[in-house]
Amino acid sequence: MIASRVWRSASVWLVYVVGFVPAAWYFYLGATGQIPGNAVKVFEHLLGVWALRFLLVTLAVTPIRDLFGINLIRYRRALGLLAFWYVVMHFSTYMILDQALNFQVIVNDIAKRPFITIGMASFALLIPLAITSNSWSIRKLGSRWNSLHKLSYVIILGGALHYLMAVRVITPEPAIYMAIAAVLVGYRLFFRSRVLAWRKQRRAVAMAR
Ligand code: HEM
Repeated sequence: MIASRVWRSASVWLVYVVGFVPAAWYFYLGATGQIPGNAVKVFEHLLGVWALRFLLVTLAVTPIRDLFGINLIRYRRALGLLAFWYVVMHFSTYMILDQALNFQVIVNDIAKRPFITIGMASFALLIPLAITSNSWSIRKLGSRWNSLHKLSYVIILGGALHYLMAVRVITPEPAIYMAIAAVLVGYRLFFRSRVLAWRKQRRAVAMAR
C-alpha cells in the first residue's frame, strides 16, 4: 500500500524529469555549438514542437481512459505543466535569443504577424490554466475549474494553427498536429458524452445479468 503510494508520486516526478530531457538536451547541443545552421531558429522550433506535443498528450489523457480504460489521470497535471514550461522556454527563446529583447519589434510582431498573434493568445490563455493547476485551486474553484480548463481546446487549436501558419513550406508535420488537435477537441465536444452514455448502458446491462 505504502509502496504503491510512493511509486505513484515518484512516477509523477519521473514524468517531469523525463519531460525536461529534450529541452536540456537541445540546450546542451546549442551551448556546445552542435546545432547546425541557424541554431536559435532550430532551438525555437524544437521547443515549440515539444510544447505542442505535451499539449496534445495532456488532452489525450481523457479519451485514452474513456476508450481504452487506461487511467493516466495522475500524470495529466505534470503533462499540462510541461506544455506550459515548454511554451515559456519557446517564448523566452523568441524574446531573448531571436529578438534580443527588442520590445518594439516584439510588440510589432505580436500585433502584425497573425501567426505570432495566435501564438501569443494561446500562451496568454495557458497562463491561468497553469496558475490554477494546483489542488487548492481545483477545490476552491469547484465546477468553475472545469469550465476554465475548457480553454485548453482553444489553446491547442491555436497552438496547432500557429505552427501551420509559421512554416514557410507546408509539410505533413504541422498538418498532422492540426489533425490530431481537431480530433481531440472534436471528441471532447461531440463524442465524449455519447461514449460515456454507451459505457454506462453497457455496465447497467452487465450488472443486470
Ligand atoms: C501555445 C503556444 C505556442 C505553441 C504550441 C507554439 C508552437 C510553435 C511551433 C510548433 C513552431 C514551429 C514552427 C517552425 O517550424 O518553425 C513555432 C514557431 C514559432 N513560434 Fe511558437 N508556439 C507558441 C507560442 C508562441 C509565442 C507566444 C510566440 C512569441 C510571441 C511564438 C513565436 C514563434 C515564432 C517566431 C516561430 C517561428 C520560428 C521560425 O521562424 O522558424 N510562439 N511555434
